[in-house]
Amino acid sequence: MEHMLDRDIERVLFSQEELRCRVGEIAREIERDYQGKEPLLVSVLRGSFVFMADLVRSINLPCTVDFMAVSSYGAGTASSGQVKIVKDLSEHIEGKDVIVVEDILDSGNTLNYLLKILQARHPASIRLCTLLDKPSRRVKPVELHYSGFSIPDYFVVGYGLDFAERYRNLPYIGVLKPCVYEE
Ligand code: IMP
Ligand code: MG
Repeated sequence: MEHMLDRDIERVLFSQEELRCRVGEIAREIERDYQGKEPLLVSVLRGSFVFMADLVRSINLPCTVDFMAVSSYGAGTASSGQVKIVKDLSEHIEGKDVIVVEDILDSGNTLNYLLKILQARHPASIRLCTLLDKPSRRVKPVELHYSGFSIPDYFVVGYGLDFAERYRNLPYIGVLKPCVYEE
């Protein structure tokens, strides 16, 4: 179906169907690794909310969810290196098997910082699950356990990912036309 926002997209990188398949594969990996456990999935708002919603519904294990919000970007397309906790978790994570769910791992600034904070709260274990990974952009090291797709250095939107808070509602992931952010 056509979307009003399609006109700002240069090309589709991952269709709804490709996303659905890959999310299912990640869920199977998590089920295999957490047999007999009850992981706590922590979604890093706001970008990961769509991925998180599809992922948890695909995981056939008891699990719980919590949310946390950090800001690093503002309205631009490059990381500032400045990370702020805007909303903290609602529950304690001590002794829990935590899976941090992110939309995209870019410079690593956000997650390098976030994982340190969460580690200090003594979870039983902590792993990172990201839908997209841009390895060529990494500035800070981050250990990644579950990754949906590795992509080149494109600025992408849709399926939760935004540019200046827009395009999160696109059902696929696409490359934004440069004219949109050069305006
Ligand atoms: P990092 O701190 O540079 O790793 O950036 C992580 C955050 O930047 C992600 O959670 C996204 O919110 C945002 N981000 C990085 N690359 C993109 C992109 O291509 N599209 C939309 N948001 C992005
Ligand atoms: Mg994000």
